[in-house]
Amino acid sequence: MLVNGKPQRTIWLDPDDPAKVCIIDQRALPFEWIVESLLTVSDAARAIREMHVRGAPLIGVTAAFGVYLAALESTSNVFLSEAGNWLKHTRPTAVDLFYAVDRALRAVLAIPEGPDRVRIARNTALEMAEESVRSCRQIGTHGLPLIRKISQEKGGGPVHILTHCNAGWLACIDYGTALSPIYLAQEEGISMHIWVDETRPRNQGARLTAFELEQQGIPYSVIVDNAGGHLMQQGMVDLVLVGSDRTTLHGDVANKIGTYLKALAAFDNQVPFYVALPGTSIDPSLTDGMRTIPVEQRGAVEVKSIEGWDGRKRTEVLLTPSNTPAVNYGFDITPARLVTGLITERGICRASEEGILTLFPEWKSP
Ligand code: MRU
Repeated sequence: MLVNGKPQRTIWLDPDDPAKVCIIDQRALPFEWIVESLLTVSDAARAIREMHVRGAPLIGVTAAFGVYLAALESTSNVFLSEAGNWLKHTRPTAVDLFYAVDRALRAVLAIPEGPDRVRIARNTALEMAEESVRSCRQIGTHGLPLIRKISQEKGGGPVHILTHCNAGWLACIDYGTALSPIYLAQEEGISMHIWVDETRPRNQGARLTAFELEQQGIPYSVIVDNAGGHLMQQGMVDLVLVGSDRTTLHGDVANKIGTYLKALAAFDNQVPFYVALPGTSIDPSLTDGMRTIPVEQRGAVEVKSIEGWDGRKRTEVLLTPSNTPAVNYGFDITPARLVTGLITERGICRASEEGILTLFPEWKSP
């Protein structure tokens, strides 16, 4: 998508030195634009753990590039397997990470040790990045008719869409998941206004989704996380579109903390609640999301303080008494019964085993 009018992706190889993997340090957005080079697998692991990159699809592709960087360091079986383990221990919830590491390692370990492994690792990572771009574009194509229909029903009046966290191109390689149908609707000239949940504690909505929509020229307003229910009661939300970090075979959806409350409010107010996600964010090995999806807990400091721009630099300030205890669950699980549908690269399905298997029949147990 566009940054200052120019097309931009979230991860790429340095054209002058393909041994460097370039990323945007998303911790600095929207205040500063910092491009960072990853040179080793531990750089890649740190970038994921410390959230220089974030969002399930981007975490997965960064991990695949991490396997490539590992292969540049050593092509031995022992080192590569260990590197895969480091990468898998960076963040627990987004299933794309595990899928990506397993796929990259499978490709690399299938051939004998030596320089060919570097080539295979690089090509696999590049291929996964391209596949993600295609999937996200397809998610947009399949989600667009939902927005078009509401627009027609409203006689062309603005479609009000609420989104949570950042499930745009910054969370992927390009287009995004939940924001992809919105970008395609914009191309079609559909009038829209997006309600952007700020998404405490790290404010991915206020910082990243707002940045994306601003750059794309799509009308939006940032709202506090608690405002969505009120807006829905007032008939000010036509559609909720969110992403997912891991969805079970039964359609239970793990997404950024606060998503579940939006789903409850949407259900109570008969507002359609759709989850947009690529197949790489579905975990066919899990069924009951409430009990089985690992929910990341992050440091209390993210709850107790907040970072902003003081006019010259990013600054963090304390929000609570300094000794206040705080807990920080990163994700919650929205049960399938609250989800109107899943928008995937293969089409829209019900959030159920039957629905998912219609689109992904390869996961049927023999
Ligand atoms: O903790 P993050 O920033 O990695 O959170 C993940 C997300 O970006 C969201 O939960 C998103 O809605 C799903 S990933 C497209």
